Amino acid sequence: MKDRYILAIESSCDETSVAVLKNDKELLSNIIASQVESHKRFGGVVPEVASRHHVEVVTLCIEDALKEAGIVAQDLDAVAVTYGPGLVGALLVGMSAAKAFAWAQGLPLIPVNHMAGHLMAAREVKELTYPLMALLVSGGHTELVYVPAAGVYQIIGETRDDAVGEAYDKVGRVMGLTYPAGREIDQLAHQGQDVYDFPRAMIKDDNLEFSFSGLKSAFINLHHNAQQKGEELVLEDLCASFQAAVMDILLVKTKKALEKYSVETLVVAGGVAANQGLRERLAEEIRDVEVIIPPLRLCGDNAGMIALAAAIEYEKGNFASLDLNAKPSLVFEAME
Ligand code: KG4
Ligand code: ZN
Repeated sequence: MKDRYILAIESSCDETSVAVLKNDKELLSNIIASQVESHKRFGGVVPEVASRHHVEVVTLCIEDALKEAGIVAQDLDAVAVTYGPGLVGALLVGMSAAKAFAWAQGLPLIPVNHMAGHLMAAREVKELTYPLMALLVSGGHTELVYVPAAGVYQIIGETRDDAVGEAYDKVGRVMGLTYPAGREIDQLAHQGQDVYDFPRAMIKDDNLEFSFSGLKSAFINLHHNAQQKGEELVLEDLCASFQAAVMDILLVKTKKALEKYSVETLVVAGGVAANQGLRERLAEEIRDVEVIIPPLRLCGDNAGMIALAAAIEYEKGNFASLDLNAKPSLVFEAME
């Protein structure tokens, strides 16, 4: 049988990425051009700057991805692209490139939800079986997703305010750490103790909702009060206490979801799935289901995960026409 090759493009935020997937599961290349250096000095992603960088490098990334995969455009069977959620200008750059490429080569276009990409990055570890539960934790999202079958995503709980990654980046900024701060806070947390008492919102409530804005405010207040009084706070302990509160919330809600839904697999994905503290807590506390976490290189934004999700859509025959538009607020359907 002829090999199948899918080229995927991701540009929803501050990474321009292009990947080539062979036979629905083997990533031959996954080129990631990060713009983080350009956004650091602003303490967050500047949308206009992001779009401009995507324009500069997307074509080069496509060339590199094909070269590294050892194939040419004529070998491809489809082009996949992230069409949301994300920054509209950033999404449009990747989408224009994908459409032009698909049209020029006469290839079908596969629309992929960025969050489905994060989740399906877990396919790199092993082929998934359904139904499964997923905890998606990134800079823009925090959600529990029930996946009854391949390519069907139902949100069963999500954050009411900040996303986990966003909370990490905001408290990181207060501590004077560089953006994005998640990784550094994680490292510092491992050198400190949970001594500051931070709130764990809605932890006793019988729902699957999250809230991190109260935790963020408590952190900022503690920090400001200490500064005004000239008191020294121990950075490592602050990080350890913040991370302990976040992990308590994530673990409690995930366990609740696993009680409510009968599944054998829990996927934990998104940028924050790189967190070592989270990985340790999952290993210690989730015993009855198999936990699958994508490898570190597929946790942050990348096109490899988009290709892994696109393979499922290809099987379903889910193709888009060239008038596909960007959906900055694209969401999975809510469960009835
Ligand atoms: O998924 P992602 O790359 O982009 C979005 O789709 O948002 O996630 C980026 C987020 C950032 O907020 C970053 O601080 C966070 O993931 N992050 C971490 C860690 N590594 C990245 N948060 C906590 N611990 C980490 N080790
Ligand atoms: Zn992401």
